Amino acid sequence: MHLKNSPRKKLASQLAVLLAAFSAATSFAEPATDATIPVLQIRADQVVAKMPPTFYGLMTEEINYSYEGGLYGELIRNRTFKADAIQQPIKPENYDPAKYYPVQIAVTNPPKFWNAVGSAKISLDTNTVLNDALNVSLKLDVSGASKNSPAGVANGGYWGIALQPNTTYHASFYAKAKDFNGDLTVSLVHVLNTNNITIHAIRDKSEKAVGFDWYLGGFTNGGKGLSGVSATNSPKKLETFDWYLGEMTFPFASAAVPKISGDWQKYEVTLTTGNIEPSKNNRLEISTTQPRSFWAKLFGRPATIWFQQVSLMPPTYKDRANGNRTDLSQLLDDAHPKFLRFPGGNYVEGDYFNEHFNWKQTIGPLEQRPGHRSCWGYWSTDGFGLPEFLGWCQDLNMEPVLAVFAGYTLKHDYIPAGPKLEPYVEEALEEIEYITGDASTKWGAQRIKDGYPNPFTLRYVEIGNEDWFDRSGSYDGRFAQFYDAIKAKYPQLKLISTVGYEHAGSQQVHSRTPDLVDEHYYRSEEEMESQSFVYDSRDRSNPTKIFVGEWATRVGSPTPNMAGALGDAAWMCCLERNADIVLMHCYAPLFVNVSDLGAGRSMQWKSDLIGYDALNSYGSPSYYAQQMFGTHGGDEVLATGAQNLPTYPWNIPARKRDGKDVPASTREVKSIFYSATRDTASGKIIVKIVNRADAPQPMKIEITGDIAIADEGTATVLKADNRDATNTLDDPKKVVPVTETVHGLGRSFTRTFPPCSITILELQAK
Ligand code: AHR
Repeated sequence: MHLKNSPRKKLASQLAVLLAAFSAATSFAEPATDATIPVLQIRADQVVAKMPPTFYGLMTEEINYSYEGGLYGELIRNRTFKADAIQQPIKPENYDPAKYYPVQIAVTNPPKFWNAVGSAKISLDTNTVLNDALNVSLKLDVSGASKNSPAGVANGGYWGIALQPNTTYHASFYAKAKDFNGDLTVSLVHVLNTNNITIHAIRDKSEKAVGFDWYLGGFTNGGKGLSGVSATNSPKKLETFDWYLGEMTFPFASAAVPKISGDWQKYEVTLTTGNIEPSKNNRLEISTTQPRSFWAKLFGRPATIWFQQVSLMPPTYKDRANGNRTDLSQLLDDAHPKFLRFPGGNYVEGDYFNEHFNWKQTIGPLEQRPGHRSCWGYWSTDGFGLPEFLGWCQDLNMEPVLAVFAGYTLKHDYIPAGPKLEPYVEEALEEIEYITGDASTKWGAQRIKDGYPNPFTLRYVEIGNEDWFDRSGSYDGRFAQFYDAIKAKYPQLKLISTVGYEHAGSQQVHSRTPDLVDEHYYRSEEEMESQSFVYDSRDRSNPTKIFVGEWATRVGSPTPNMAGALGDAAWMCCLERNADIVLMHCYAPLFVNVSDLGAGRSMQWKSDLIGYDALNSYGSPSYYAQQMFGTHGGDEVLATGAQNLPTYPWNIPARKRDGKDVPASTREVKSIFYSATRDTASGKIIVKIVNRADAPQPMKIEITGDIAIADEGTATVLKADNRDATNTLDDPKKVVPVTETVHGLGRSFTRTFPPCSITILELQAK
């Protein structure tokens, strides 16, 4: 409970809590007939809250290759050649957010994630650059190219490039050339490592080789065959492939760029695949077979081409230009999220001031976006910038919940309230104008120029992220300065403090009354379940509401297993029952690229809702729990009460807390969780029951009030044989919900809930 109330207010609120607890205990005084069977009582005539329209949402940031190598359609990794850029930390006193500070490039490093093709030489070059924002280029020396030996450059994407059959890809790049008059071939090339290929010579009676048999054991698309490359399947070709040192390549599509100018220009081609199998072991190649010109050779000059922003885009969700990957977008869309909290998380703060999400450097033409190092340890091109967050909201019909940088970074640099904080307050005001302004405003006009004609509905703005880490005590003052300026210009906006009531009163905001506080909970299954009644006894008199802006049951890696889903569902029941004070919530993190697991590789944070590689994706059991709840929200929360709920013993090992030894202990935790809502349009009562036990659990459900309930309804059940069960790339649908018609429902019925299960019953009012 937070501490800011006056003693009188405090007494009143404590009374309110006691009364609420009393009424929860007494409203359903009807005794259970069998003392061993748990009873859930639902009062159809007592609405305790209107379900907020933006209750279920998404939280997102660039982590675990969420956008680059994830949701963002771009298939080329390190398309601006800055993956290795050195971004020197800048202290707040020396930093001006209106300026761009160019990064340094170690030109002696080979271009990361790029390879030379044939005899080509590639290097980074800071002398011939496209512009100040992209102050490095890839220099390609193709002097050794010849008709039989192409020279060029290749990129293998984010752990592969997914190619689908009969699909058109859009390749583009900026280039300029010197002493090179030839044409370029842009190709999508399938790569087959020969390590696993067995080749048998076929010999005639005299032992003369007359052909070869070949067997593709480890073909990366699952050995489904090589449709589309049959032309290469001849003995002669196989002999030739032996020269490719462990790899065979098959062009799946190619296009020509006839001439490269001596000045920087943009080149674009489309590449359409044939009837291939979907695969990810592919790369983009740009090469030439054109020999060096006679004069260049004579004078010993290399044939050089410089590149910048080499891009390959697949078809995107809802065909948005510079848009998103379709499978991931569809998974999200299927869960019906109502809002998107962006751009972080830690990503909004950055490690240092010059690594915060400086939104103005993420808008406008892609080639004008310098990119920045993200706090999760890799480079972001910012091709997925503020306009793209808005496009994502538009695609999925979500409301933006904007987090603004509030002058504090992850490495504990900060600017206290006062004139030096003013540029950041201004930056936030302008960002709000970019999202909500019309054509008459400077930043609204810029948004329109960026392709978004209509202002977005914005109702919530969060000031900073997790400012309880700021032990300087500066947050209260910083919050107040942002609060006053934003409320003065946008009085309708609801402002969120990042320090929730789960933190010490001394860290919370006291100088202003936040409209909401953001609480974060990352917990084990047992912790999640043990605190899943925590909001039932929260102070109802507090005008400040709750946004649970990050939460997850962290069991299972890279994505949560059934135990995670059970903890999540128990927690979501708690959130739903308390939707009068919890206005919004979102699971975090959302995405993980599972291609290369481990610290510093494609995953920085374990237990993420949705996993994927370049080609495939899957929802974890926790995703399906989200989807079930998000699509069965209802619009009214009904009063509930329960008796005889079974418990299980949670053995908590000895541990250290705040430097002190805490001995091992056992706590009894409930093993059944519930909530009940109504969809007023259809009249359905939606009952959610979570049985986390390993055994079936009978439960009596009683509905009171002036209502009749049909015998027939539906049950949507997510269950697993055990709590370790999970989904993976190879088995993406092992744990998924199943909906069936059920009978025997009514005002009072008993139903047995399967072990380790989450059930949504839809009861039809008659
Ligand atoms: O969700 C991962 C991180 O957890 C977020 O970036 C941060 O806000 C929290 O600490």
